[in-house]
Amino acid sequence: MPQKLIAPSFLAADFGNVQQEVEMLNQSETDYIHIDIMDGVFVPNISFGFPVCQAIHKHAKKPMDFHLMIEHADPYLEDCMKAGAEIISVHYEACRHLHRTVSEIRNLGAKAGVVLNPHSSIDLLEEILPHVDLVLLMSVNPGFGGQNFIETTFSKVRKLRAMVDTINPEIIIEIDGGVNDKNASELFKAGADMLVAGSFVFKSDDPAQTIANLKKA
Ligand code: DX5
Ligand code: ZN
Repeated sequence: MPQKLIAPSFLAADFGNVQQEVEMLNQSETDYIHIDIMDGVFVPNISFGFPVCQAIHKHAKKPMDFHLMIEHADPYLEDCMKAGAEIISVHYEACRHLHRTVSEIRNLGAKAGVVLNPHSSIDLLEEILPHVDLVLLMSVNPGFGGQNFIETTFSKVRKLRAMVDTINPEIIIEIDGGVNDKNASELFKAGADMLVAGSFVFKSDDPAQTIANLKKA
């Protein structure tokens, strides 16, 4: 039975009020705080770095879920751990030696995730599924918040659910990008365990209530 986890993406938070935003998440039904790290190379944007992650971690009572949209993840895994990572996910498209990278993440004591861009087939995952704790499917092209959800994600989730149930049923299936009240319930039904939501949560009038509503989707 899939879980229903919600991970608000801090990318959409008000960076002028980090402590206040984290405290709102602490008081809410947030399961993980999703942290988007971008390098301006793997994706055409730069988000924030480890000093900001440390500031979030300092106030956070919720576990942190790191999504690395960077070309070279290996040199930064320890920084993620020091900044409070409980999950570290790296892109299939960025990691030449993916097995080595996910093994290192597990050795450091975090859950290891692999991320697929919208165009990448889940068939690419067959050999790595026994070695990871989480698969993150992008439902937008990574790099920016506030984009439209790509509808073909639903069939991709169903296909991945079947594959995961056969190969490694412990895996968490996470979806990221354009998640809102119109697609959350169908994503959970398709087999997702965890939904990332940035703009839909932080731009709403009552973010904590929006998080609670998504959990009930
Ligand atoms: C996109 C990031 C997402 C993003 C989601 O590159 O990986 O986590 O913050 O934001 P929304 O929910 O606004 O699409
Ligand atoms: Zn993300």
